[in-house]
Amino acid sequence: MSDEEKEPSPSKPSDSDQEKPKPKRRATVRRKKPTAPKAKKSDEAIVENAAVAPVVEKAASVEVPAVEKKPAQSEPEQKTKESNSKPKPQPKPPATPKEGEAKPEVKPISPQRSQRQPHRRPQEHSSKYYEDQARNVRDLANLKGKRPIVALTAYDAVMGRLVNDAGVDFILVGDSVGTTLLGHRTTIPVDMTDMVRHTAAVRRSQPKCLLVADLPFGEASFSFDRLLESARRLMQEGGADAVKIEGGRDVADDIEKLVATGVPVLGHIGLLPQTVKAIGGYRKFGGEREEAENLYTDAIALEEAGCFAVVGEMIEEPVARELSKQILPPLIGIGSGAGCDGQILVSADILGYNTRKAPAFVKTYANLSQVISRALSQYVDEVRGGKFPS
Ligand code: KIV
Repeated sequence: MSDEEKEPSPSKPSDSDQEKPKPKRRATVRRKKPTAPKAKKSDEAIVENAAVAPVVEKAASVEVPAVEKKPAQSEPEQKTKESNSKPKPQPKPPATPKEGEAKPEVKPISPQRSQRQPHRRPQEHSSKYYEDQARNVRDLANLKGKRPIVALTAYDAVMGRLVNDAGVDFILVGDSVGTTLLGHRTTIPVDMTDMVRHTAAVRRSQPKCLLVADLPFGEASFSFDRLLESARRLMQEGGADAVKIEGGRDVADDIEKLVATGVPVLGHIGLLPQTVKAIGGYRKFGGEREEAENLYTDAIALEEAGCFAVVGEMIEEPVARELSKQILPPLIGIGSGAGCDGQILVSADILGYNTRKAPAFVKTYANLSQVISRALSQYVDEVRGGKFPS
């Protein structure tokens, strides 16, 4: 999601929406009819949920982790080393300058240099959730009904490592890299070169969890061969475990063929950021009865095509809740309320690592832009003021 996405202004379902919509089904599988989305004050609920947490400001005073002490050498070990070692040449005493000769200048060691600590890596952090992380698409699908699935985006090796270590079930290398890191206004300019490069970077962080990569704009629209080739690149060159494709029944046939070829696919319905130019902006989906029915038809089409999970973006809360109940794969919500089987957010948004405002449904857990900005200004001040290097 880019922060240029407008605040949702979902139209509220009318009274007639209280009736149950009759979904258009592709298959003959017997299933409970979906209940109509109730005209709940969903926008209020969502805005409440989105209340932005107070910004963390103390990150500048990060504690340096303690250095691990090496165990003291045992006596016998020390002795063996001593007896084996050759006698060291004794350092020559400094030559005393003869009378009349100038004394050699001895440079004092700067206190800062002598006190400098050796470079330390951040202390190894092992997640309390490692054991419980989804490692493959089957693990992920099996989590439905057991506990909420959790996912975040990452676009480079540093964030890949941090996000994995936090214990997510999958990392998405989203085409949101375009709006969050690459400075584009939408995800449309993002191409396969971007996606392969960023996916490969995250793969190099060796995440234990599932790694999914987005198929960028247009890739699913040329031909099946082109789609297969792009999925192949994301998996073989980027190291993705699965790919995500935006769209519902329109792409379901191709997804079915991809799945049959061995490409695990994560579906994506509701707001499709790649269609933003066509839909005329970012908004909430499923407020109207027809749209709710269409979402249901799309979700079923993706289920039947073999998607292991489906992302539901900016779907009205009651509709998303109902969809989660009706489809077999987990529905991973983003801006779709608490009724989904799991949640995904853009990591830059929750970390406040952006130059523009995050969407209203995002909870920000840190304000990295502020922390970074302060540190950078301090460095500039110190160099200009002759304080660093000292
Ligand atoms: O590109 C992306 O990051 C996404 C998520 C917002 C689901 O598609």
